[in-house]
Amino acid sequence: NKRINIAIDGPAGAGKSTVAKMVAEEISFIYVDTGAMYRALTWYALQNDCNVDDEPGLVNLLKKTDIQLINQGGVLHIYLNKQDVTEEIRSSEVTGQVSYVAKHGEIRKEMVAKQQQLALAGGTVMDGRDIGTAVLPHAELKIFLTATVEERATRRHEELVSKGIKSDYLSLKKQIAQRDKLDSEREVAPLKKASDAIEIDSTSMTINEVVEAINALIDKGD
Ligand code: C5P
Repeated sequence: NKRINIAIDGPAGAGKSTVAKMVAEEISFIYVDTGAMYRALTWYALQNDCNVDDEPGLVNLLKKTDIQLINQGGVLHIYLNKQDVTEEIRSSEVTGQVSYVAKHGEIRKEMVAKQQQLALAGGTVMDGRDIGTAVLPHAELKIFLTATVEERATRRHEELVSKGIKSDYLSLKKQIAQRDKLDSEREVAPLKKASDAIEIDSTSMTINEVVEAINALIDKGD
């Protein structure tokens, strides 16, 4: 395999991270979860009583923040100033606030620079919202992974239920739709399919089918 970069974008809950992780593992690429970086900053902001609308405050906080993504035995751990926040950044509180943090231009500028640094040597599978459009506009392969909001909410609902976590399908669906709206309508680098991205609608596909489809595209490019 050539050390290409693969960009995977799409709305919330489309299975981007699951698929990106599997693709990366198979071809020994590095998986970069850019959403985790925005989530980590959001968690830190909440910890420090920094308002998600306070852009200068967030920028200040980000300057004092070292975010590391480290693969430990196949599990991607997120460290913020050396503290493992892998679990914390998935809380519903962080999920509900992250899009407000991610809308700020100055925050995105810093995050994008860091993400581009990680992809400099190639060999990454990076997932997010603006990878194909802003972070890696020259990525050799761009995927836009979608599914209906009903399907995405159902998958998330079933995942929570199977873990024994209380979940309400309708409020999940509302939250997902709201996050998509915020991410798609923001001014800076909104969620959008890059013109040269290949769209995969996973609504009636299994995870393995999506991974297979992406692998076939990688092979085609070789
Ligand atoms: O991918 P995940 O759902 O963890 O992303 C959390 C949030 O981070 C998104 O809803 C979006 O607001 C923000 N994000 C972003 N740009 C990215 C990745 C994530 O704005 N490249």
